[in-house]
Amino acid sequence: MAFSFFRKKQGDVAGQVDFDHLPRHIAIILDGNGRWAKRRGLPRTAGHRAGSENFRTIATYCRDIGIQYLTVYAFSTENWKRPKDEVETIMGLLKKYLLEAIDTMERDNVRLHFMGDLSVLTPELQDLAAQCNAISARLTGCLCSICINYGGRAEIVHAAQSFANDCLTGAVKPGDLTEETFENYLYSGHIPSPDLLIRPGGEQRLSNFLLWQCAYSEFYFTPVLWPDFSKRELLKAIANYQHRSRRFGGV
Ligand code: IPE
Ligand code: IPE
Ligand code: MG
Repeated sequence: MAFSFFRKKQGDVAGQVDFDHLPRHIAIILDGNGRWAKRRGLPRTAGHRAGSENFRTIATYCRDIGIQYLTVYAFSTENWKRPKDEVETIMGLLKKYLLEAIDTMERDNVRLHFMGDLSVLTPELQDLAAQCNAISARLTGCLCSICINYGGRAEIVHAAQSFANDCLTGAVKPGDLTEETFENYLYSGHIPSPDLLIRPGGEQRLSNFLLWQCAYSEFYFTPVLWPDFSKRELLKAIANYQHRSRRFGGV
């Protein structure tokens, strides 16, 4: 099998995963960076650095085993409340990640997509995100969506405003709105809903993530902090998901 190398490396846990029926779309709330640092007597910013490194590892692994869509919550509309130096560190890590992605995504065949209101980011960050989008348009591989300045409620309000504007121009009528047409106004319009939503870090809440899209997602919570969330932990989550019965309201 093409991915046997990646499977073998994770040993016993890999044996519990059916690699031919992986979730098509995995979403992850990248939580627990601050506590990871605190436990080591380090500043919270060190936790964000470790979390950012781990994101690289897990995103690459998702691509290797054949996950088609990965969506991660990196910075929420509420995270601006944090101390200025912490926000600046996170934005600095984002810049570093985007610069590296511009150099490597073509070789790796990983598409990057951004969800959230990027208009409040610096012009430099917006430009780097636009460069990633342009490269992604030429690629076909795993689609990795990074949610920045993202809030599920803000996304729904933004979609409603866009639809109302299209009504004003006469492009559509209010009666045209269905669940399917509304989805096209969301940041995730062209992406299927997540099959599996993972939240490391011990909290059992959505914190305003993908409110519309998670209507029928399977949730997996673990106390493992995001910087410690390894490939093995990902496989454990997938194995757990594969034992669920998804009924979508049926029998
Ligand atoms: C997640 O880790 C990263 C962001 C929200 C940007 P946290 O910084 O929330 O870590 P904890 O929850 O305080 O441990
Ligand atoms: C959710 O984590 C947001 C991200 C991981 C980007 P938070 O740490 O902000 O969530 P709360 O405050 O515990 O709900
Ligand atoms: Mg947190």
